[in-house]
Amino acid sequence: MAEDLHIIQGNKAEQYTSLIPQIKGLLEGEPDLVANLANVAAALKEQFGWFWVGFYLVKGDELVLGPFQGPVACTRIRKNRGVCGSSWAQAATLIVPDVEAFPGHIACSSLSRSEIVVPLIRDGEVKAILDVDSEHLSHFDTTDQQFLEEIVALIVL
Ligand code: SME
Repeated sequence: MAEDLHIIQGNKAEQYTSLIPQIKGLLEGEPDLVANLANVAAALKEQFGWFWVGFYLVKGDELVLGPFQGPVACTRIRKNRGVCGSSWAQAATLIVPDVEAFPGHIACSSLSRSEIVVPLIRDGEVKAILDVDSEHLSHFDTTDQQFLEEIVALIVL
């Protein structure tokens, strides 16, 4: 069992490691933010097949839905609300193994069971967040955190 877990985690790290140069290639020379967020969301969805992956952009006192892959989602989230609004408020990545156990979780889909939210911080301010949802419990760990933080750092905001 522990060995299986190791293999799965190893594969995941390998998948990220091969994906990152592709993402760098997609972003290189393209200054348009929407185009870049859209391609990063698509590349992640294609590689990992997650239930939902996308971005929310900080606009005034709300997060507003940006480019994403997956089912339709909530369009606006206030600061401190849900996992996304909490990640924004704390300017920190949040890994939620069971969304039902997260106070104030916003259920855009009842199929989502676990979630990771990574803030895009520039000049000390959160400008956007990356949100990834899975239909499986405890789907995300610090390996995802490490690589997703590396990936969002590549996006020029
Ligand atoms: N579950 C998120 C809302 C966004 S959707 O999952 C796409 C939250 O609690 O902030």
